[in-house]
Amino acid sequence: MCGIVGYTGKRSAAPVIVEGLKCLEYRGYDSFGLAVTDCESAAKSDAGGLAVIKKQGRISDAGRDVTLLNGNTGIGHTRWATHGVPSDVNAHPHTDCTGDIAVIHNGIIENYAELKRSLIAEGHTFKSETDTEVIAHLLEKFCNAADADGLIGEERIDFAVKSLMETLEGSFALLILIRGFSGLIAIKRFSPLVLGIGDEELFASSDMTPILEHTQKILFLEDDDYAYLMPEGIRVFSYPSGDAVEREVKTVDWDVESAKKGGYDFFMEKEIFEQPAVFVNSFRQSIDDKAVSVLKKASSITVVACGSSYHAGLVFRYLAEKYCKIPVRVEIASEFLNFAIAKGTAVIAVTQSGETADTLAALRHAKASGCPVFAVTNVLGSSVTRIADHVLYTRAGPEISVAATKSFIAQCAVLMRIVSVLGKGIFEKELFEIYPVLEETLLFDPAGASAVCKDAENIFYVGRGVYYPISLEGALKMKEITYIHAEGCAAGELKHGPFSLLTPETPVIAVCTKDASYPVMISNIKEMKARGAPVIAIGSAGDKDLKEIADIFIPLPKSENICEVISATIILQMIACNTAVLLGRDVDKPRNLAKSVTVI
Ligand code: M6R
Repeated sequence: MCGIVGYTGKRSAAPVIVEGLKCLEYRGYDSFGLAVTDCESAAKSDAGGLAVIKKQGRISDAGRDVTLLNGNTGIGHTRWATHGVPSDVNAHPHTDCTGDIAVIHNGIIENYAELKRSLIAEGHTFKSETDTEVIAHLLEKFCNAADADGLIGEERIDFAVKSLMETLEGSFALLILIRGFSGLIAIKRFSPLVLGIGDEELFASSDMTPILEHTQKILFLEDDDYAYLMPEGIRVFSYPSGDAVEREVKTVDWDVESAKKGGYDFFMEKEIFEQPAVFVNSFRQSIDDKAVSVLKKASSITVVACGSSYHAGLVFRYLAEKYCKIPVRVEIASEFLNFAIAKGTAVIAVTQSGETADTLAALRHAKASGCPVFAVTNVLGSSVTRIADHVLYTRAGPEISVAATKSFIAQCAVLMRIVSVLGKGIFEKELFEIYPVLEETLLFDPAGASAVCKDAENIFYVGRGVYYPISLEGALKMKEITYIHAEGCAAGELKHGPFSLLTPETPVIAVCTKDASYPVMISNIKEMKARGAPVIAIGSAGDKDLKEIADIFIPLPKSENICEVISATIILQMIACNTAVLLGRDVDKPRNLAKSVTVI
């Protein structure tokens, strides 16, 4: 997740872009860069070219020289590293071999490795380790092809942009400068990009925050739109037809402070709403062949992790055991040193921050014992990546709220990807198509469930199979941000003790979709009801029986079983978040907790 800003107008572009990037630092802050051009004179004389500055570090620490870049059109980027370590050379913008094309990008190019190989074979020289750089080289190639066909002006650019969109796989919000073209090119597919219309000036950005300082008129691009921001205005086109399209311009009257959280009151809410894209970006990545072959050769897999990451490990266990027939153990990292490690075990550390001391100690122990060691982490270059033999990155972007939401979903996505790869493509189709299901999930209104939860002293969360860890995660979310005691239980375990705690004041949140455990879950829910507990049931769309039994029935969007696992998690996050709001808690910074736990 990175932040991008573009400007074209009468003012000097660089200072506007620098201020804009400061608003987007929450999206990434390991390096930054700008490319600026004086479009009008560059177009007229075909001279000049692009001035580019890019550096490791934060835009807020950038020197004055950045703002002195000369030109009235420019693009800028603040980076959250995904491909290649944070460094000057990996910072955006990326340029082609001639230096005539500059590109900034938010998203992931899934087929970049094969594209890079063929571009190198065609004579292109790469400077960085990023996926983004292929875009600059592809544009160079397509512009050359357009030149060979005698295309000029906008026809040349149209050809290059459409060829680019046909070639790229993955998610991308792109801002592009091409020497000789008197404007800014914006392209969107599955990554956020909005445009702003000011008085003789135009803006582009990952979110509205940087734009609202200048104008309230916002144009929201749709996926597969591309737009030209020119001195005479914005024109938007739809790929693949290339037809000009009208997109509504909305007047947004948010104040700038609320815009920093994208209009949400808390980062947790904002991060919950980012999850459709986060899941898709995290799932749709290929896993290195070497890593796959090590996992295939392992006689068993052990996951070590803490907190929410431990729950993601448990989700992995249920799926991998069932669908890949691999024995999987999941250990709380701080307890791992007490146990023997079976010969032939591969160990996976799951950690959002990559810095959790207990998880690092567990992974070091596994490595010292001779196991092949893996990391699933969100932070490039974090400590865990230096211990692991193989690293798989979640694509959640920076998570600011202490409560893990999108990072948990991203961990599930990467671990489901492993299951899919080891399970000969299982779930691939369903999870490739999950985006609209998750968008629909976010329409859920948690008010009814939260009204019940907010008055409770104790809440139970129950599920069977893969919904047992999802219940643990739901309970963790509730307790950490509301301070209500919440306990996740395997549904079958309640009658072995916790039943004694059930009263009409003790809500039970039961996750009960129409999977193999459904009939027995229904019996369990009836047992809870018989003890007087109010039941909030999350189930499959159209489940009339569950609706009849439960006090509150929350239907998930109609989808495949595997997608319901993710939808149900999001529903539980939303209930916890809303309950914390009703109780007036400090949602993003719950008491006594820290985002990264670097002590044992
Ligand atoms: O950075 P990690 O994933 O290693 O962190 C582990 C836990 O501290 C973390 O998941 C914690 O439980 C969550 N913040 C809870 O929402």
